[in-house]
Amino acid sequence: MSTLIAKDHAHLWHPCAQMKDYEIFKPLIVTGAKGSYIQLAKGKKIIDAISSWWCKSLGHQHPQLKKKLLQQIEKFEHVILANTTNEVIVNLSEKLANLTSDLKKVMYASDGSCVIEMAMKMSVHARIIEGKTKRKNFIALKNSFHGETIGAMSVSDVGIYKDPYHSLVFKVDFIDVPYCSGIDDPIWENCDEAWESIIKQLEPLSEKATAIIVEPIIQAAGQMRIYSKDFLKKLRNWTKKNDIHLIADEVMTGIGRTGKMLASEHANITPDFLCLGKGLTAGWLPLSALLMTDAIYYLFYDDYENGNNFLHSHTFSGNALAASIALEVLNIMKKDKMPERVLELGKVMFNMFLEIADKTKKLINIRGIGGVVAADLILAHEKQRLGYDIYQKAIRLGALLRPLGNTIYWAPPFNIEIAVLTKLKNITQQAIEM
Ligand SMILES: Cc1ncc(COP(=O)(O)O)c(C=O)c1O
Repeated sequence: MSTLIAKDHAHLWHPCAQMKDYEIFKPLIVTGAKGSYIQLAKGKKIIDAISSWWCKSLGHQHPQLKKKLLQQIEKFEHVILANTTNEVIVNLSEKLANLTSDLKKVMYASDGSCVIEMAMKMSVHARIIEGKTKRKNFIALKNSFHGETIGAMSVSDVGIYKDPYHSLVFKVDFIDVPYCSGIDDPIWENCDEAWESIIKQLEPLSEKATAIIVEPIIQAAGQMRIYSKDFLKKLRNWTKKNDIHLIADEVMTGIGRTGKMLASEHANITPDFLCLGKGLTAGWLPLSALLMTDAIYYLFYDDYENGNNFLHSHTFSGNALAASIALEVLNIMKKDKMPERVLELGKVMFNMFLEIADKTKKLINIRGIGGVVAADLILAHEKQRLGYDIYQKAIRLGALLRPLGNTIYWAPPFNIEIAVLTKLKNITQQAIEM
């Protein structure tokens, strides 16, 4: 065993892992990364098929982002954002405020989970200020995932990440979701049939709910499941009618991943709160942002003595290095017409998955939207850990696939070349067939 791996095993607890697994398959030693590739020790290169947990939307070492980061380093790296301001954070906030017609105010955190907590706290706090103190509950979607902190976990519904912590989380009402395979599925446009039963689940909750939180269009950690845009539209109408906030968790979907800048745009809706993370800095540095309506913002805008103060802070809120990159990410997304390119990429990816399914006969439920395509492996028995097996084979063949359980998916950098994608297709097919 190399010294590095021995030291790793002695001291490092890797995220989201059973450490004992590393006895069999050692952690990959990364020595560099460029474009869609991760460079490993001993000269091996693997394709980053999942954009390193869905954040490296513009690939690794993007030269323009590197340039902006270095420019900002020369000025200052981080100064407390309470009581101070600077050009980069103001310009970023202005750009984020231009993403939608209604969300004109921005507050910053670092990780996705923190921004979800912020939205939830702000919704509850807003109700107190409004004197609507009965409105305290949250509604979420079955199979949702919103992060690892206690509030975010409470509104999440994926058992493997939540089950041991039931004594910590609070009660949330989870409603059904009308899934579909993508934009060509009739349910995408019309979910009337499913809505009949969903509305019955919602109605008893209408008077006590402060907010409903959704991952618009695609539930990422929940096996990359895609749902009807009509459902999102209907849900938005229902929240408006019943004075319930809509929190759009676009931590994964935001900034282009689904072929629109925001996945909410598929349904032509704007939420009351919008949460961004991951792709906001194209995976360079941790930065998350909460956008909210003026209506929410001005509830808190008051004389300090009245106590309506949202005294929420994170040390690295609005970190200048991260903000300088985010600003350039937004420029590149626009200049390179990235969402449109993602839609085109998505079509190629979907067809490649169809091909893999046809050749291997081992994939079902192929689904895709923008720069995400996924399918479930056909299992010999329920407990089979086929995804983990395929993960190891794909690494040997040259790709980081990292299936979600037994769901294989790709969410590569938006600028992945077609030749690399073709290579990824061959590797995925071979790894499934082996
Ligand atoms: C939809 C969604 N929300 C929130 C989070 C949490 O973000 P973070 O891991 O940055 O805390 C994730 C992470 O995967 C996510 O997919």
